[in-house]
Amino acid sequence: MTMNADEKSESATDPQTGAGARRDFLLKAGSVCAGCALAGVPVAAGLRVVTHPVTGGGAAAVGGEAPFLPVTTLDSLPEDGSPAKFMIRADKSDAWSRFPNQVIGAAFLRRVGERGVQAFNVVCPHLGCAVEFREPNRDYFCPCHNSAFELESGTQEANSPSARGLDSLETQVDDSGNVLVQFQNFVMGIKEKRPV
Ligand code: FES
Repeated sequence: MTMNADEKSESATDPQTGAGARRDFLLKAGSVCAGCALAGVPVAAGLRVVTHPVTGGGAAAVGGEAPFLPVTTLDSLPEDGSPAKFMIRADKSDAWSRFPNQVIGAAFLRRVGERGVQAFNVVCPHLGCAVEFREPNRDYFCPCHNSAFELESGTQEANSPSARGLDSLETQVDDSGNVLVQFQNFVMGIKEKRPV
């Protein structure tokens, strides 16, 4: 096979400058880099699938505000201001599946005034046991370290090993009387109330 004059001039190496050899080297290097980049796409996608269930999903946006979740109705809460315990439910998801209406925690709710609702996370801020409402004492009680918390403020009593009182949660009551709670968990064992 014969090469025309143009082909000869493109592939030939100029003995003075080495331009032809340099051009061939750059073309080959470019091809290798493009191949590496294309090969990296499925690898990255695979890593994403493997790691996503660890980092994604859940009821609350990571790094964002927790959503207000419907929990009950105002009518269902005792009129005398006694707390009632409710499971908190939300849809959860991971990379492969959605799990609707899953229990993600629990809270004590009680009426405050005409249309107000106070909420506390049931998790003891000391080491995470579940607190109970003690009707005779009208307070919350953690059985793990015999620790009591005031009913109205959630403040820990003097002998409590907990560094802070019960964790209050934001609530809303809509026009239809539905009670919504902004459910969150908080770091245990520290004085500061810091969302997990
Ligand atoms: S876990 Fe509740 S007081 Fe220790």
